[in-house]
Amino acid sequence: MTLGLTTAGESHGPALVAILTGLPAGLRLDRDAIARDLERRRQGYGRSPRQSFEADEVDVLAGLRHGSTLGTPLALVVRNRDHANWEWGMSPWPPEGEPEGKGAKPVTLPRPGHADLAGVLKFGHDDVRNALERASARQTAVHVAAGAVAKALLAEIGITVAGSVAEIGGADTEEGWKDATDAARADRDTLGGIVEVRATGVFPGLGSYATREDRLDARLAAALMGIQAVKGVEIGDGFALARERGSAAHDEIEPGLRRRSNRAGGVEAGISNGEELVVRAAMKPLPTLMQPLQSVDLATGEPAQALVERSDTAAVEALAVVAEASVAFELARAAREKFGGDALDDFTAAYRAYRERIDWQPR
Ligand SMILES: Cc1cc2nc3c(=O)[nH]c(=O)nc-3n(C[C@H](O)[C@H](O)[C@H](O)COP(=O)(O)O)c2cc1C
Repeated sequence: MTLGLTTAGESHGPALVAILTGLPAGLRLDRDAIARDLERRRQGYGRSPRQSFEADEVDVLAGLRHGSTLGTPLALVVRNRDHANWEWGMSPWPPEGEPEGKGAKPVTLPRPGHADLAGVLKFGHDDVRNALERASARQTAVHVAAGAVAKALLAEIGITVAGSVAEIGGADTEEGWKDATDAARADRDTLGGIVEVRATGVFPGLGSYATREDRLDARLAAALMGIQAVKGVEIGDGFALARERGSAAHDEIEPGLRRRSNRAGGVEAGISNGEELVVRAAMKPLPTLMQPLQSVDLATGEPAQALVERSDTAAVEALAVVAEASVAFELARAAREKFGGDALDDFTAAYRAYRERIDWQPR
């Protein structure tokens, strides 16, 4: 038994969809909790105006009845309000009438740092839009919705997950983030940053050293690197550990099987060890610049400036929400693999029996 997630949807297409498989029956979902996470994803200083008119409401098309999961695939849809301005340009079927609205003109100016050049070469497109529409982080809306569902499942076994911003543009105070974002925007430039996700209530035993694919640290890293613009992941003290001696790098064990420190970030040998899970992700500066970088016009082969399209200055606060959702989904997946169960009660009973066997208490 495992959790599966398939998503589809283009940034300016009709909608984004997600299908979750492997949820137990009888899990109650809170519509407001899902809506709140989607709302959090839209927030943050330095976002583009699009965030103000995309309402990001989730419709559930399957797998839920009267607020409880049925143990069948859960189908979620978030419609793109902006599609109204792209009806011709992003029409799934050959559009009727003369080209009109956004997306009507082919894009031939690939942006360094975006999907544009590698995407058109790989897939044989002659309009960069065919690459950038799916590569766009707009799809993170349904990942956040899926993460909200995962958090509901994790709550049943006492786990909570929270993402936060550590740095934006090298600044580590909220005031500093705003100043850095204002300065970058004034220069028509962009910023990246670092986010941190912490999960509490994680008991020892999620993930395994049995194979590389089972390792919880490997899975968390893949989940976070799977988010657009994430270029680095560390678990616990991560890179800083490389500069320490062993005596200062590991977490000594005390009676009660607790640790004196948590440099490992709650994972040893690919298995959660009962300490708080701490992971961080580094986001590169966003690639769409209002003062564009040098590129080549793919239509002529001549030097040209890269595409300028409405874009965020920084999206680190949004990344914190997306990273939270991705970590939650991965933890929920590991828990489904460990405890199984068709009904939620089977799942929670297996969890309680395991807790009893290992005699572990949360802090
Ligand atoms: C929440 C979020 C919002 C983003 N918003 C933008 C944006 O407005 N403009 C942009 O150029 N890139 C944005 N990105 C980053 C691009 O989607 C990403 O850089 C691009 O798809 C290329 O992928 P890569 O950076 O992983 O190589 C955003 C990423 C995230 C996670």
